[in-house]
Amino acid sequence: MKVPLLDLKAEYAELRDEILPALDRVCQNSAFVQGEEVEAFEREFADFCGTRHCVALSTGTAALHLGLLALGVQPGDEVITTPNTFLATAEAITYCGARPVFVDIDPATANIDAKLIERAITPCSRAIIPVHLYGRPADMDAIREIAARRSLRILEDAAQAHAARYHKQRVGSLGHAAAFSFYPTKNLGAYGEGGALTTNDDAAAKFARAARSHGQTARYEHEFPGYNYRMQGFQGAVLRIKLRRLHGWTERRRAIAREYRRMLEGARLTIPVDDPHDECVYHQFAIYVSNRNAVIAQLAERSIETSVHYPKPVHLQPAYSSLGYPAGTFPNAELACERVLSLPLFPGMTAEQVNYVATSVLEVVGKK
Ligand SMILES: Cc1ncc(COP(=O)(O)O)c(C=O)c1O
Repeated sequence: MKVPLLDLKAEYAELRDEILPALDRVCQNSAFVQGEEVEAFEREFADFCGTRHCVALSTGTAALHLGLLALGVQPGDEVITTPNTFLATAEAITYCGARPVFVDIDPATANIDAKLIERAITPCSRAIIPVHLYGRPADMDAIREIAARRSLRILEDAAQAHAARYHKQRVGSLGHAAAFSFYPTKNLGAYGEGGALTTNDDAAAKFARAARSHGQTARYEHEFPGYNYRMQGFQGAVLRIKLRRLHGWTERRRAIAREYRRMLEGARLTIPVDDPHDECVYHQFAIYVSNRNAVIAQLAERSIETSVHYPKPVHLQPAYSSLGYPAGTFPNAELACERVLSLPLFPGMTAEQVNYVATSVLEVVGKK
């Protein structure tokens, strides 16, 4: 048996009869950039997240960038976030001329440790970006309490967490604004790049709508120098079709995760903890093992594909060496990056594949 990390070809085979006419509609209308499909997707995704606004964008990175600008982040400001994330979270801070300030993770969840945020706050702090890593909601009550008390803005990085719930409430509606990515491998993935900013803040949405299209408030009326961060029409059409399936796909992801947890109980590995009040959407099923390279190789011998999210925390990347965080600064994030391994998990996985992966992992890592 062969198990890929995810299988977008099989998903396309299932959706093809719906996708092709939708793409044809975009072509017939020549609505290649923004247009009706994108506008309809914005309304549907805002409804889905329970927010007043959704601004469709070209990428998740653009959504983080415009989100920070919309919340007033300026050159010289500091933005607090986790080093256990994809580089884009920090890059968006850099784009604003602000400085990323990292806070270590809670080893139990792999998300930012809210207990450590307070001591990272300085007079320059402007915002916090909690990342819902692997689709697991960050500790939002604690983060919101600190943000309210210290007058900081919250931009959720929900790139990996479409449909996740924190205490019954959808991510995307838990801070002042939220950034989503629709990169093809995401739980809700486009057929190319895509992103969105969701918010209940009218002014933030208005800013993002202008900023994504060269600062235009009307055709050739440029209020400020903006960006070209618009979503393509094809992506809006694809995302609308996939959004209708997201609930079912998410349920399937959660069922697979439950089965993995059940079968891997007692195995010599650890799995991040889920808060029973929340709904993690398992963008990745992460495990921690001490001999990762050997585990990867032995699973590969059994035709099981794995991946590492992420092998190096952002503060140890050459791109951010100038921030001056030496190795050892964030021990929990560093240890997580040394040991983390993502197992295959996608909605189209068969019960046999799930069983094969879990059995193989058990064989390879052994019992506690
Ligand atoms: C946590 C996180 N933030 C931001 C991004 C950036 O999104 P995009 O690739 O759509 O720019 C990604 C995904 O790539 C991500 O996983």
